[in-house]
Amino acid sequence: MRHCLALLALLLCLPLSAAQLHLELGDSTRQWSSEELLKHPQARDIDIDQDVSYKRPMHYRAVPLATLLQGVKGDDHLQAVALDGFAAEMPAAPLLQEGPARAWLAVEDPARPWPALGDGKPSAGPFYLVWTHPQASGIRPEQWPFQVTTIRRLAPVEQRFPALLPDPKLAANDPVRQGFALFQQNCLACHRLNGAGDAQFGPDLNVPHNPTEYFRPEYLRMYIRDPQSLRQWPQARMPGFAEGVLSEQELDALLAYLQHMAGRRP
Ligand code: HEC
Repeated sequence: MRHCLALLALLLCLPLSAAQLHLELGDSTRQWSSEELLKHPQARDIDIDQDVSYKRPMHYRAVPLATLLQGVKGDDHLQAVALDGFAAEMPAAPLLQEGPARAWLAVEDPARPWPALGDGKPSAGPFYLVWTHPQASGIRPEQWPFQVTTIRRLAPVEQRFPALLPDPKLAANDPVRQGFALFQQNCLACHRLNGAGDAQFGPDLNVPHNPTEYFRPEYLRMYIRDPQSLRQWPQARMPGFAEGVLSEQELDALLAYLQHMAGRRP
């Protein structure tokens, strides 16, 4: 018995195996191992005051993301894919800027793993996109993807997924258009709509039915603000969107988009 426990302890103490970051930037693809990134000439020790995933101050070894995005231009579109199927859509411009908000790729050292994100959950590693001075550029919580394995350059969402587009005849200032932009920033990382999108995390929000059809409006708002306030279960994975992240006016626009799309089912 003592031997078994000793063996178990040994297994648990073995360092995590090295992880690979895949960069698929169009003309070039390349892989970086955690070791290479930890030794990168531009790697720094950084402090994050309000870490979005750990919800406390954190300290990381990190590389400025812009130095890894060789050849990427400000009007390009990037996607960060995580181990669990979360796929964050990100315009490249904020990721390339040097300040005041700055994007860093935090690298988990296999010899010194980061803490778990919660009971029974893994850490935010192997790679985690963090920001210094995020409030200076209005960086949203969805722009902090964790457990990242791949960063790719892709065509913009509207070109890749025409099934997400609202009616092209809508006026340029129609709230539905603003709602579509908010949907891409806040929801598309986890939800598909009309089967379109890359996420494999939450349910499709229009097929077979649209939540604006089967939720009473006040309950749908309640759900988006705080899913657990409508129904509770321990495995729920959808985060709430407080007013600081999505104002009342933005929530109106988002719901206008969802409702509009109920009339544009394939
Ligand atoms: C981090 C991933 C994530 C994000 C971001 C996210 N959701 Fe969800 N959502 C989920 C998951 C997963 C579920 C299924 C319930 C659960 O596990 O919490 C869900 C469930 C829902 C439901 C309930 C569907 C039903 O029939 O029960 C609605 C409505 C919804 N999401 C809307 C939204 C909207 C609108 C946004 C953007 C403002 C959004 N979600 C952002 C992951 C996410």
